[in-house]
Amino acid sequence: MSQPLRLGIAGLGTVGVGLIELLNGQAELLTTRVGRPLVVTAVSARSQRDRGVDLSAMAWCADPAELASRDDVDLVVELMGGEGDPAKSLCQAALAAGKSVVTANKALLALHGTELARIAEANGAILGYEAAVAGAIPIVKAVREGLAGNGFRRLAGILNGTCNYILTQMQSTGRDFAEVLAEAQALGYAEADPSFDVDGIDAAHKLAILTTLAYGTETDFDAIHIEGIRDVEALDIAFAAELGFRIKLLAIAAATEHGIEQRVHPCMVQADTPIAYVDGAFNAVETQTDYADRSVFEGRGAGAHPTASAVVADIVDIARGRDGMTYSVPVTALKPLSPAPMDRHEGPYYVRLEVYDQPGVIADISAILRDESISIESLLQRGRATDANGSVPVVLITHEVGEAAMLRALARIGDLDSVRDRPRMIRIEYL
Ligand code: HSE
Repeated sequence: MSQPLRLGIAGLGTVGVGLIELLNGQAELLTTRVGRPLVVTAVSARSQRDRGVDLSAMAWCADPAELASRDDVDLVVELMGGEGDPAKSLCQAALAAGKSVVTANKALLALHGTELARIAEANGAILGYEAAVAGAIPIVKAVREGLAGNGFRRLAGILNGTCNYILTQMQSTGRDFAEVLAEAQALGYAEADPSFDVDGIDAAHKLAILTTLAYGTETDFDAIHIEGIRDVEALDIAFAAELGFRIKLLAIAAATEHGIEQRVHPCMVQADTPIAYVDGAFNAVETQTDYADRSVFEGRGAGAHPTASAVVADIVDIARGRDGMTYSVPVTALKPLSPAPMDRHEGPYYVRLEVYDQPGVIADISAILRDESISIESLLQRGRATDANGSVPVVLITHEVGEAAMLRALARIGDLDSVRDRPRMIRIEYL
């Protein structure tokens, strides 16, 4: 039996503890699969409290940076999180010392991935980050290796379980966002500060990484158009169902004639498409490629053991001697990303207006849409206002239209005296 691969783990939160449990529970299986034992020799965390796992055989490092220079650590596992230090400096130091790093840190990869990959590849080290995107789903491996023979037309994913859980609950109970969020927080499904999740930042971090893998472009988080789910109302979910759609927060990267689109926003997807069936905290990614056509991947996007499973996948790959490429091309071959501006986006739209139930209202709205060359596919009005000053919802589905024209039309429609409240718009994505 060869020498053990010695691991140093920084961060003993949910995932760190889950990783130790997995390494213990699967020790025999992993040793057989890898050809040598995987042994945790050192750990670092904020406090030495009891976490329900035995750490007695592991050296304790008060400063995580120590893991980069210890002689008894061959590979550093970074599970502290956060885009900056200490996670960033630990990864930089370990990679510069030629030690491979496995991390679940999507913010770090989204903002500094290209820089870390350069250090890794210049020093013969490997940077593994399967756990940073969609938890247990082996999507990094699928895009980098399984689909290596393909060009990507589009990649669309449910990359945030908290948002998918909230939207699923809104769908099944008819309740509004705020109420479902409060309940999710009380149950521990959503963070006390939910903004990274519900405002789309977390999904955007993961999308930035997938874009680099799919298109061989430098990671460009700032080029992502990001909208979260706070504006999605129960009424929109009900209309979506009536029209044969579901509302999902999608993260999408697509090759267009204007460049590469990267966007995160609520989408209407057809109710019979695979992603529409992905409910609760699950994640899913659909790839559209030129030779393999459509592939769909689904699984648990978070949680101690699913995330630990992805961390271990990278450790096993590295222990078996995987190649040193961080992405699907060497880091030196990455091209700058040429972003498609969001106002050049084209697609169909769902629009909901709250209008006063008076003659001529639809004619005014139609005139504005005509001025912007926006063609309506269908129009729906439900019910009648109970008095002359009452309002009713009107829903429009458009044919394919440019985002800039759509936004201009919505601004003018919102200014009409006959329209109460701000128009609501959700982009339709045919998958
Ligand atoms: N908070 C994320 C989610 C999991 O809700 O999916 C970690 O990225």
